[in-house]
Parts: sequence; structure tokens; C-alpha cells
Amino acid sequence: MLLASIFYIFALFISVASALNLEEGQLPKKAEVYYKCVKPGTFAITFDDGPFEYGRGLLEWLNKNKLKATFFYNGEGWGKIENYKDHVRRVFASGHLIGSHTWSHKDLTKLNETEAKEEMTKLENAFKEIIGVRPKYMRPPFGSTDEKTLQLLGELGYYVINWNVDSMDWLYNDLAKEQEQYRKALNGTDPKKEGHISLQHEVYKTTVDDLAPWVYKYVKELGYKPVTVAECLGHCNPRNCMLCTARNRQISEKHQKNQDIATYIIL
Ligand SMILES: *[C@@H]1O[C@H](CO)[C@@H](O)[C@H](O)[C@H]1NC(C)=O
Ligand SMILES: *[C@@H]1O[C@H](CO)[C@@H](O)[C@H](O)[C@H]1NC(C)=O
Ligand SMILES: [Zn+2]
Repeated sequence: MLLASIFYIFALFISVASALNLEEGQLPKKAEVYYKCVKPGTFAITFDDGPFEYGRGLLEWLNKNKLKATFFYNGEGWGKIENYKDHVRRVFASGHLIGSHTWSHKDLTKLNETEAKEEMTKLENAFKEIIGVRPKYMRPPFGSTDEKTLQLLGELGYYVINWNVDSMDWLYNDLAKEQEQYRKALNGTDPKKEGHISLQHEVYKTTVDDLAPWVYKYVKELGYKPVTVAECLGHCNPRNCMLCTARNRQISEKHQKNQDIATYIIL
């Protein structure tokens, strides 16, 4: 609770500062799509389709073990975000990265522009109410994008985050098969040269209870450091990843060699 209070006071301070200094138009118009980490030796473990009932146990486990994850949330999917407000605040305040997985998990390429935009902005409004900021990272449902949706997402200021390691947990629900997916995808990879983004879903009990603990141990054994997506793209200095905002970005571009691109957008 104390940590959360300190965080909110500091975030408030930063948000006032950034409102005055916000520099728009720094992202390219068309959203960039990432499949892997940019920083060698990093590994972003991501969980989609929450918030849902198993997320609380996962958060507790991650925090107890001082590990970081990225969560791509829906507004209404397996759960309704309005029923998980406290949980989402706790995830945010604990320094995990929250990204958008759209309001209702529709394939954005099958919607017209108005509908697609609403899938993003409706969830932005929910985030604004719950944590006071909106994400800059999004995962398209089904990993599905086309030129039109990338243009829209770019205009809305999002980075599109897909993956290069797929646990296939939604299909298997079976630890041994999911481990095999990881082993196949990472066979022969070199942490000195590359980093990876992996996909799983917090809506399966086996993923939270069995796969998650194994994955963190496994990637560390291979020589990778588990970090958030923001850190794995080199957008954030780990020291202040949770707090880097547009304000930090301006400062950093002048003085800190581009280490602190905004993680969230203050609305
Ligand atoms: C987008 O689709 C919705 C629902 O199908 C429709 O009501 C709306 O007119 C469409 N908008 C445009 C710009 O095509
Ligand atoms: C890793 O790749 C090597 C060579 O390509 C192969 O012989 C080995 O069976 C693979 N191991 C796994 C676990 O897939
Ligand atoms: Zn999904």
C-alpha cells in the first residue's frame, strides 16, 4: 500500500510535468510491429486475455519472486476489466507492463475504421479511469494486422507487439507440450545476439500454475533476463521503467542516449 501511494504521488508529479512538455508526433505514422526483443539477452514473457481469475495468483507469485511480466488486457473477454480494477492497479503499481489487447478481442482487420478505433479507445478510457494512463503497447487479437490497422494504430501512438515464441497453451493446456514449444523455438539461440517475446494466456490454470514458473526458470538457465516488453525494446531504463513518461523521454533524448521512451501515455 505504501509503495502504491508513493507511486501515485510520483506519477501525479510526472503527469503534470509531462502535460506541459508533451511532444507529439515522435512515432512514425504506421505502427511498428515487433516479434522479438531488440536488446540482446532480454526475454519478455507476456500473458494475454486477462484480467481473469488466475491473474491474482500469478501476480502474487511474480512479486514474491521479484519477476516482471507484460499483460495484454481486454475490456470484455474472459473477464470484465471493471470487475478487476483493484487487481489492475496492483499490477500497474508493481511495475509490470500493461498493454492493450483491444476492448473485445475482435480481429481488427475485419472491422471498419470506426469500429477498430473504438476497440482501442474504449479500453483507453477504461484504463484512464483505473490507472490514470493508457498503454503504448498493444497486441492485436490473433496477432492479426494489415496496412490499414497498422496505420490506425500508428496514429493512435501504439507499438504493436507480436511474438516469436508461442507456448500454444490455448490449444494444449499441457505443460510437457508447451515446454516442447519453448525448446523448439529457442534451440540454438544465443542470448548474446538476440532476445525473445513469448506468448501465453493468463486464463488457463495450467499456464499460471505450471507453465509460468517453468518458463521463468528455463529462460534464465538459457542466459536470458526476463523483463517487460518496454525494457526488451530498449525503451526503458530498468531503474525507472514504471515511471518513464513523455517527460522522461524528452529529457532522455537530450541527456540519456534515448534510454527512456514513454511507457504509458497520460490522458
Ligand atoms: C462501420 O460498421 C458499423 C457497424 O457495422 C456501421 O454502423 C458503420 O456505418 C460503419 N462505418 C463506416 C465508416 O463504414
Ligand atoms: C536442436 O537442434 C539440433 C540441430 O538442429 C537438433 O539435433 C536437436 O534435436 C534440437 N533439439 C531440440 C530439443 O529440438
Ligand atoms: Zn488474445
